[in-house]
Amino acid sequence: MQAPTSLRRVAIDLGERSYPILIAPALLDHPESFSDLPAATSVLIVSNTTVAPLYAQRLQSALQGRYKAVHVVTLPDGEVHKNWQTLNLIFDALLQNGCDRKTILFALGGGVVGDMTGYAAASYMRGVPFVQVPTTLLSQVDSSVGGKTGINHPLGKNMIGAFYQPLRVVCDLDTLKTLPDRELSAGLAEVIKYGPIADLAFLDWIEANLDRMLARDMDALAYAVQRSCEIKAWVVGQDERESGLRAILNFGHTFGHAIEAGMGYGQWLHGEAVGCGMVMAAQLSCELGMVDSAFVQRLRTLVQRAGLPVVGPRLRADDNAGRYLELMRVDKKADAGEIRFVVIDGPSRASVRGAPDAMVRKVINACCV
Ligand code: NAD
Ligand code: GLY
Repeated sequence: MQAPTSLRRVAIDLGERSYPILIAPALLDHPESFSDLPAATSVLIVSNTTVAPLYAQRLQSALQGRYKAVHVVTLPDGEVHKNWQTLNLIFDALLQNGCDRKTILFALGGGVVGDMTGYAAASYMRGVPFVQVPTTLLSQVDSSVGGKTGINHPLGKNMIGAFYQPLRVVCDLDTLKTLPDRELSAGLAEVIKYGPIADLAFLDWIEANLDRMLARDMDALAYAVQRSCEIKAWVVGQDERESGLRAILNFGHTFGHAIEAGMGYGQWLHGEAVGCGMVMAAQLSCELGMVDSAFVQRLRTLVQRAGLPVVGPRLRADDNAGRYLELMRVDKKADAGEIRFVVIDGPSRASVRGAPDAMVRKVINACCV
């Protein structure tokens, strides 16, 4: 069978761990999407209670011609389940089905399923191959690419995990048609992120094409996924394990992770917290004299137009800023207890730095209810 004519390919260049990202409609039904993967007797599709009824059968059919046994494990849905208990359900399925070292895991779902499946793949028998089949906008533009895998800890988000690259990422754009509006908006937060940190021309494009994306125009979404993946590929290709540059992909995430953990996982969607967090990080960049207030307003308007919150929640009745600071100290970028923020310090340019607590408090007080 021929590859779809609309197929877009982005390469992640990591030497022997390099892999392609395939982007097009109807890829799930296309056995070609999964051709030339390694031979295996069995494979395991990992999905959840929302996505499996929509798409697992189609993926199973595409894989059945190639693999003798195609097993499916269905996890509970939600960020609140991104933990040890749920991870163990994947190991249970692998062991109960006699899966071996060649078994390939397929992550069919959003970032929660993708992060947990990747971590299970990194650990099962000390490492088995896996393929990302992301079905949310957020996972197609960000989480399925670059090999960050893991689970949450009650004290901090994504605190347990591993860098482990997939064999391939298959983005079937048609899956975005069933995505709830709120989740589409959450994905747009991560699309918007790439503009300020790396490509102001892309930010212009997002502003001009946001309504098309909200209306699920497939050409607009295809370009957004492609350009986002190209930028992520460029960053990850230089700094796979986040010893420096890769941290810029966390623009808005330091404030955002505090919102997610402080509100209780799942209350604010990850993308919502990142959207609001980007406005707060832009405000901090302004306080540091790196961007002007017009830039902060530009970003705030765009985040709001995408259907995302731009005012942070109150995490504690008294000393709200103190609670944000407490939570932000449990961040992987923190260095000897000092919180480090991704700030915008020029056109298409971001860097990572600390800021005085008093200044951060001022930003939080200005940006929260
Ligand atoms: P998610 O995985 O929770 O998916 C959002 C919701 O949409 C879920 O209810 C899911 O079941 C549902 N869903 C998924 N696909 C659907 C479809 N096609 N149709 C209908 N419903 C569908 O959330 P997400 O936004 O995809 O991912 C967020 C997670 O990703 C967070 O845990 C975050 O930490 C992680 N993340 C990881 C990275 C990384 O580099 N690994 C980057 C960004 C975010
Ligand atoms: N989403 C941040 C990263 O992949 O590094």
